[in-house]
Formats: sequence, C-alpha cells, structure tokens
Amino acid sequence: MNLLFVASECTPFVKTGGLADVIGAVPKALAALGVSVRVLIPSYPELASVLGSGKEVMGFDDLFGGPARLVSAKAEGLELVLLDAPHLFDRVGNIYLGPDGQDWPDNDLRFAALSYAGAQIGLGLLGGWTPDVINAHDWQAGLVPAYLAQHDGPVPPVVTTIHNIAFQGVFDATRLSALRLNADQFTTQGVEYYGKVSFLKAALALSQKITTVSPTYAAELMLPEFGMGLDGLLRERQADLHGILNGIDLDVWDPETDPALVAPYSARSPKGKARNRSEIEGRFGLTPGEGPLFCVISRMTSQKGLDLLLDCLPALVGQGGKLAVLGSGDRDLERAYVKASTQYAGAVGTIIGYDEDLSHLMQAGSDAILIPSRFEPCGLTQLYGLRYGTLPVVARTGGLADTVIDANDAALAADCATGFQFAPINATMLGNAISRACAVHAQPKLWAAMMRRAMRHPVGWDVSAKAYLDVYQAVQKG
Ligand code: ADP
Ligand code: GLC
Repeated sequence: MNLLFVASECTPFVKTGGLADVIGAVPKALAALGVSVRVLIPSYPELASVLGSGKEVMGFDDLFGGPARLVSAKAEGLELVLLDAPHLFDRVGNIYLGPDGQDWPDNDLRFAALSYAGAQIGLGLLGGWTPDVINAHDWQAGLVPAYLAQHDGPVPPVVTTIHNIAFQGVFDATRLSALRLNADQFTTQGVEYYGKVSFLKAALALSQKITTVSPTYAAELMLPEFGMGLDGLLRERQADLHGILNGIDLDVWDPETDPALVAPYSARSPKGKARNRSEIEGRFGLTPGEGPLFCVISRMTSQKGLDLLLDCLPALVGQGGKLAVLGSGDRDLERAYVKASTQYAGAVGTIIGYDEDLSHLMQAGSDAILIPSRFEPCGLTQLYGLRYGTLPVVARTGGLADTVIDANDAALAADCATGFQFAPINATMLGNAISRACAVHAQPKLWAAMMRRAMRHPVGWDVSAKAYLDVYQAVQKG
C-alpha cells in the first residue's frame, strides 16, 4: 500500500507539539508493516539542508501567489515530499505565528497550498508514485478532500486525523475563491461552517474516515463540552470515527541510550536517575533534597490547566515537594511561574522557552510529571514519563485517562498502578493527587515498584500502527 501523510510539522525537523512527534514516528512503524509512506510537509527554513539534498518532482507556476515545487528527499529514516513555496513558508520564527504573536495573516493560503499539493499528489501527478490512501492531519491538511472533490474522475480515499479539535482553521467566506474552492462547495455538506469556511469541518464532512488520537477523546468529541461546535457532525459520523491511541518513538525516547541524559539508566538498573536529578536541580536552581521532584513540560495554554497547578504550589512545597517547569505560551502564565520561582526560591524553578534536550533530561531526572489538562486528545509527555519511570499525575480526560493507571487502593493491591489520576478537573482534586503522590513517594519500595511497572508499560507504536492500517485497508476496499 502507498500512503501519503499530509501534515504541517514533523519531528525532528520542525515541531511545536505532539503532532510533530506522531508524524515523525508513525511512518516508521507503518513501514515495518509493509506500507510505503511519504510525508508531505512545507519546506520551512528548518528544512533547507534536506531540501538541498532532494530532487524536484513537480512544479507549480502559481501556487496561491507564487511559484512552487515539490521536492522529494530522504532524511532521518523518512521519505519526505517537501512543498517548497518560499512566498508562503520561507519565514523566520514560529511556523504558525508572526513576530507579533498572532497567526500569520495568510495562514489560510499557506495551508490551502499544503492541502492543494496533497490533492495533486493524490491525483497521481508525482510521477511514478500514487497514494492508495491519503492520511491528512489536523486543519492544516483539512482541504485535501475538498480539492479532490473538485476533480472529475477517480480519487484516492482520505482519512483525516484529529489531533486537537481546538484548532479548526476558520476563515471568512469571502476567501472562498482565493482558496480555489468552487462556490458549490460552500454548503453544510462541504466547507461551510456557520457562514464561514472551516478547513477542519470540510475534512470531517468529506473524508471517508476520521481518526483521533485516543479512544476516550473519540468518545468525548461527540459531546458538546469537548466537540467545540463539531460534536453534532461527529455524532453523525460516529460509525466512521476511530480512536487510535498515540505511541512514542522508542528509539528516540530510551533512557538507556538518550544522549540528552547525564547518566543512562533502565528499569533493571535505575541508579542513574539520581544523577539526572542533580543536574536538573542545578539547572533550575532547586535545593537538593529528598522530597519528590515534580516537573511540567508543556505549552502554556488554558488547555493544559497550568493555572490550576499555581493554586497547589503552597501544598506541594509544604509537603517537601520540588517543581521544575519548562514551557512557554500565555504571557500571564509565564509571568506567574517566574514569580512563583522567586516566591518559592529553591523549591520551584521555571525556565521559559522551548528546549528539546532539556525536556528529555527532565523526563529522566524527575520523580513525577504533572499534566492537569482540561482536555487532552492524547498527550505524549505522560507516555515519555512512563518510559522514563517518571510517574504521571494526570487529569482523567482524553488520552491521559487511557494511558495511566491510577494508584487507588485496588490498583496498588493488585500491583498494577502506574501513576495518579484526578477528576473532576479542578485545583482541589489536583492537590489531592499531588498529596497522594507525595504519600507514595514517602514509601520508597512502593514508589520503586510503581516506577518499574511504569517503565515496562507498553508505549510503542506497534499495536496502534496496525489499527491505522486496518482503517486504511477499510477505506481502500470501500
Ligand atoms: P501538545 O501537542 O498538545 O502540546 P503533547 O503532550 O502531545 O501535547 O506533546 C507535547 C510535545 O511537545 C512533547 O513532545 C513535549 O515534550 C514537547 N514540549 C512541550 N513543551 C516543550 C518545551 N517547552 N520544551 C521542549 N519540549 C516541549
Ligand atoms: C495535539 C494534542 C495532544 C496530542 C498531540 C499528538 O497537539 O493536544 O494531546 O498528543 O496532538 O496527537
């Protein structure tokens, strides 16, 4: 089977969140199942050297305002197709946001171009390689099935994967013709969404199947509290909606070989974890000590519930805990954590920014990772935490609910707990979970047993890659 992935980011080239990690990892797992996967992504400046090593396979005289080309290249074990469109993607800074922190004003054209290129490849225009199925990811690839619908003749089926329904790509209806969408697509069965053009709505209406990144989020998406206006459409499409749990790249995230660690370790021989802890204490200005070291590695947005954690700091510190925070995003949250680091000097440390290597070190050296998200489609940091024996303390929602086994009395008695869950999602219950974690941490044997169990919990891609393949095979037949 030939499969085309269309996505806006991909690890290790360009990443703003978990989407990139998934796009960088699944193709390898699918390749092991005999699928030939190519990944279409924009050629941002971060990809300049890969672009230079590639071969042009298709040209466009005018792709939404300028000349463009598709370049195929191999890098980091992936078969890439780069959309080289300098007028849209050759920009310094965040891939979605301009220097003012706002969306790039032409984001509609930028990701329409990505979708349009995906559709062209679907029509066989790459020469020598035609996808049997296209898997489009998130709103940025949402118009792939809309462009295919404008073609007379056979087109490949499209599967759309929702990584986060909070981002929908909604633009003014006056943009329809600039987006090269035919007027007859502006209907409730097509791209129209409350009088506007919605890329994600188009994808959900027009794709043969829809997947999302955990079974619990698949169920939540059909509820008004989580569906963000698209729950009705998803209820209609329930038979075609599949929740497939994310995995992680076990080669990139391996505490025995991870180059970002100061000391390697494993479930059998966990001693090295302590040296990584000392390194974190130094980097975050924390006083060395015995109490549990919690960490946060996160985008700072209301999704991630980090405002709830601020309310719990007195209790966390009061119980002898320490906290290291790495993140960036919302300015008020950034300021609040920087302030807390002064207020609780030596017990709370904050680094504002994005640092891939430091995130690995924190997963290695911390005792527990806090993820109090209000919603979480899957979440990857709890999976990295499990793999590194850093017990997740998580809100019971989405993929967090599906991947962490709460250390309640029954689970502890049955020796199966791997972390701590809390619900309902508020500061009181988060504080309660932190206290439970502190209490277990004070029993070193119990904590060590949970750590070992967490490290053995299967978090790779093999099971989920097969589930994706089943979906692709179903649309191929259908
Ligand atoms: P989301 O995609 O919603 O941000 P995930 O948990 O799926 O949430 O993925 C987040 C990814 O981004 C993880 O790989 C995490 O380690 C990484 N990450 C988040 N914030 C930072 C940061 N400040 N520095 C380094 N890595 C980060
Ligand atoms: C999104 C979600 C996150 C998920 C990631 C990868 O960014 O917020 O929960 O893990 O996509 O699917």
